This record gives sequence, structure tokens and C-alpha cells, in this order.
Amino acid sequence: MAEVLLGVSGGIAAYKAVDVLRMLQRDGHDVSVIMTRNATRFVGPETFSALSGRPVGLGQFTDPGTAGYDHLDFARRADVAVVCPATANTLARLAHGLADGLLSTSLVAFDGPVVVAPAMNTRMWEHPATVANVATLEARGVVVVPPASGLLADGEVGMGRLASPADVCAAVERVVRHGGEMQGREILITAGGTREPIDAVRYVGNSSSGKMAWAIVDAARDRGARVTVVAANVDLPRRPDVTYRDAGTAEALHRVCLDEFPGCDALVMTAAVADYRPVRAETGKIDKSAASSLQIDLERTTDILSDLAAARADQVMVGFAAEAGAAGLQRARDKRTRKGVDIVVHNDISAPGIGFGSDDNAITIIGPGDAEVFFERRSKRACAEAILDALMSQVTARTG
Ligand code: C5P
Repeated sequence: MAEVLLGVSGGIAAYKAVDVLRMLQRDGHDVSVIMTRNATRFVGPETFSALSGRPVGLGQFTDPGTAGYDHLDFARRADVAVVCPATANTLARLAHGLADGLLSTSLVAFDGPVVVAPAMNTRMWEHPATVANVATLEARGVVVVPPASGLLADGEVGMGRLASPADVCAAVERVVRHGGEMQGREILITAGGTREPIDAVRYVGNSSSGKMAWAIVDAARDRGARVTVVAANVDLPRRPDVTYRDAGTAEALHRVCLDEFPGCDALVMTAAVADYRPVRAETGKIDKSAASSLQIDLERTTDILSDLAAARADQVMVGFAAEAGAAGLQRARDKRTRKGVDIVVHNDISAPGIGFGSDDNAITIIGPGDAEVFFERRSKRACAEAILDALMSQVTARTG
């Protein structure tokens, strides 16, 4: 259970911070609230003081009887700070270290983990200044709970709605439970699906989107890990605080992994790597009028996981097994032994609504050791947390 500092800045979504306060308390946390002056135009401070059972911080130089604590008291007391909603103005202040009000000053005085939940009009969210400020905050390790798309208070439809109070509280919960747990650890994560050229424009590929790997990247960053991603054809937004190396084919992915693997503490091999590639790629575009059928000779690619496992120092290794049907689970178990990795994450690709391209997954985490846990359908982010829990149990078992 944690001491949470809830900062409420002045947007119409401020009323949703009341729900966030209630949910944090329901999760067992104690909450102190600081409101910016503009926030009090949307919700009365009495609401927050009555519900939190504590005086609300309103300003550095208001009636000392009202504030009760100064910025240092707020900062010293908190285990985690969450700003909800975070306006464009408050994000800018936090990004640049401005300290001209009780909330901004307390945040500058606070050296613990910070979660921000932005909410604003789409144009403000997409303004280059806001984009740069969010990037600065993420690079500093601030957890940004991205806004959702939908009907905004001004009647426009677009990106900028405050994330749901449940999502904001889930982010706080993750920080409370895991924040800093992977500080100093280097994690290598492969993502997407390789494409093996047939000719200058065609390829043998698969439909991996990279979403599962991207969720693992977010989860690992939120736990404080340094993350390098080897991306095979992933068309998803990239974080400023992660190193990305692109590798489109199995061969290129193998090469980059060989380069990065020695320096990492753990490898999560999420990428769907082609098992076969055309023996020879034609230089131009194959002319379809030349013949009524086409034969392409395929050869096996190197199994990157097995290759790296054979040469590993003490890296923890996680592989994936996308398998169809009931027999797939046994194949995934066998794969863990055959490839010599610590953990295999199995998902049943014949089940509808999960896996490739979707936002949800249902997985069985096989290993470390005899452990085998099934996680029924949930978000890929929730699956990522479970995978990192298993991975970290092995990292700490090895290195303490
Ligand atoms: O043997 P299979 O392709 O089912 O194994 C899947 C796991 O092995 C995944 O983690 C995938 O990234 C990895 N793999 C690999 N090299 C290959 C093929 C798959 O490392 N050539």
C-alpha cells in the first residue's frame, strides 16, 4: 500500500480525478491531493478534502491553514505521484522543471516515480510542443497513460480524452508494485515478423503486428529496464526512451541479435521469424506471363533462439510458440527443452479474437523450471506483465 500524491490540473476531465481518488483508496492507498488554481474552477477542493480526509494543497502562498503542508512535505510523504488530468500546461511545466505553483513545485521536489494522464483537445495533444514535452517526460522515465480517442468535451471527436480512471489506477498500481524493479537491467526484445524476399517486390512473410512485443517494451520501460528492440517490419509508434534497430529478414535479425545479445541480461524473442526463405531472390520482378505456375525453392533459416542459447553467458531467455490446437501446448513444452531457453510463452493461434494483430492474447507461460501458468484472455499489456514477472523471477534467482 502506498502514499499517493494526486495532482489535479485544470481541465474539464478534473471531475474524473474524483473517481481516480476513490479507486486508489479502494486499492488500499492513502491519497493526498494538490489542485492547481484552474482545477478548482472545475471541481471544488472540498470534494477532494472530504474524500481524501486530508486538506487539499492549493497554493504555496495561500492561507497556511488551508494548505497544511508545503511542497516539500507533499514530496517527502509520497511514494508515487499521479497527475490526472495533466493539461498541456502542466505537462510543459513538468517537462521543463518549472516550479511556480504548489503542484509544479512539489513535482520538482519529488524524486519518486511519476504517472501522468494527459487530457486535452486533439490539436493541443498533437501540437509539436506537447509531443516534444511528452517525449521528454517519457525519456525521463515518467509513465504516460495515453489519452483515448472519442467525443471531447468541446464536441469535437478525436484523440485527447482522459484514459479511463481504471487505466490510470492500473498504471499507478504497476508502478507501486514493479517501479524500478528492472533498473539497471538491459532487455533485448525482438518484434514483428520477418519478410524473406522472393524478388524485388514480393516476399514470404507472416502477419505478426509487433503489438505483443510493443506491450512488453512498455512494461519493461515502466519497470525501469533499458530496452533495445530489434524490429522486423513493425509499423507502430516508437518511444523516445528505447533503442530501436530494424532488421527485416531472418538473416538480418540474426545478425543484429548476435551483436546485441552479449550485452543484455535477458532476451525476449517475440518476433515471428520465418522458418524458411527462398533459396535465391530474383533481382527484378518475376514476370507472371513467363509461366502458368511458379516453383520457389525454400531453405531453412537459422534458428536464432537455439543459436543464441548455445552461446549464452547467463542471460535469461524467453521464446514464443504460436501453435494451433490442443497438441500445440505439448509442442511448446518440447520447444522450451529443444531450444534450451528458460521460458516459452505459448499462445493458441486457432482461438478467435486473440494473438496476431489483436489487442488481446491468452497465453500459457511455460517455465522457468516446472512452472506452467495459463492466463485467460486479457490485454497484451497484462500478458506482458505476467511474462516479465516470470522473467524477473529467473533474473533475480540468477543474479540476486
Ligand atoms: O520453432 P518456432 O518457430 O515455433 O519457435 C518460435 C520461437 O523461436 C520464437 O520465439 C521465435 O522468435 C524463435 N525463432 C527463432 N529463429 C527462427 C524461428 C523462430 O529464433 N528461425
